[in-house]
Amino acid sequence: MSELLSHIQSMIRAQGPITLAAYMGLALGHPKFGYYHSQTVFGAEGDFITAPEISQMFGELIGLWCVQRWRDMGSPREFLLCELGPGRGALMADALRAAKLAPDFLDAARLHLVETSPALREKQRLAIARPIIWHDRLADLPLLPALVIANEFFDALPIHQFERAPDGWRERMVTLDPQTDQLCFALSPVPVADAAIFSAAVRTAPEGAIAEICPAGQAVMTGITGHLAEQGGAALILDYGPMLSAPGGSFQAVRGHEFCDPLQNPGMADLTAHVDFQCLAHAAARAGCQTDGPVTQGQFLLRLGMAERAQRLAQNATPPEREAIESALRRLTDPGQMGSLFKVLALRHPALTPSPGFGA
Ligand SMILES: C[S@@+](CC[C@H](N)C(=O)[O-])C[C@H]1O[C@@H](n2cnc3c(N)ncnc32)[C@H](O)[C@@H]1O
Repeated sequence: MSELLSHIQSMIRAQGPITLAAYMGLALGHPKFGYYHSQTVFGAEGDFITAPEISQMFGELIGLWCVQRWRDMGSPREFLLCELGPGRGALMADALRAAKLAPDFLDAARLHLVETSPALREKQRLAIARPIIWHDRLADLPLLPALVIANEFFDALPIHQFERAPDGWRERMVTLDPQTDQLCFALSPVPVADAAIFSAAVRTAPEGAIAEICPAGQAVMTGITGHLAEQGGAALILDYGPMLSAPGGSFQAVRGHEFCDPLQNPGMADLTAHVDFQCLAHAAARAGCQTDGPVTQGQFLLRLGMAERAQRLAQNATPPEREAIESALRRLTDPGQMGSLFKVLALRHPALTPSPGFGA
């Protein structure tokens, strides 16, 4: 039995059932046994592959997007180039390499990464090979204009889940099965006091429906938009989830590239939930930022020129390398693969022109 499982079992015995958000926070972020602190999570040898790990083209195009946004901002002499949850640092390393064609951009960029895992900070340090300042929280960023990137960051933030019961919405809690002592779900005995915590499209869902909310994601969004509204700059959020808020359960666990039971072996599997882009866009607008999108990841990457970049890379490639480049392009942009499930949302200070990659 994992040490984290016995820790969570003791906690439930002492305090009673815990929310799914508390469970997810411990399973992913426990400082000793949490998934991001103790596992080899990325790549073919890990549990899942993210877009920048599929191809260098992804980070390169985002690097060039940042260069363009910096010029649109009036090329400030000092600004924060900030990534939230950079994983192994692949996206930022590729972005900085592509940005070498704009040395003035690189001179002005101060690299700030928001990352809680010491093991991943070390991987980022090795991959990026440039001065980096790390933060545990976005709120600690210095007061400068910023370009903020977050790829598959919001899907790792803890969610609360609810089920529509005959007498209203009840939270799904994590508790112990009295027969087996294993972790299981049970509904809270008390219905939610105010259904206004759900978006209008979710509130009226029928009995048996599942709803999810992510207050941690809302808090990060408020932090980003507050920073951009006060200091200037732009942000790019790439993740998977629907364009519009809708009822439905999306909480899932992945281990070794396979789905598994999210309550078995906490700390050993990646736990995620879909990102509610409509909800994020509303939070941004409330805090005084303009938004572009969401659009699908396929639309965004193709508008930024990923097909042309793939063609260019393929010119000097061997036949197996060419096949790998074409396969990466399909994987990132095809609607049947990551092209349509993944969405892209951009935020900007109201004085900035619309972001590249979002159409007219
Ligand atoms: C799914 S990984 C994404 C990695 C990377 N962006 C990529 O595309 O390869 C999630 C990342 O967010 C970090 N993370 C998760 N929760 C966090 C939190 N609350 N604060 C800061 N970083 C967090 C993880 O340690 C990891 O680096």
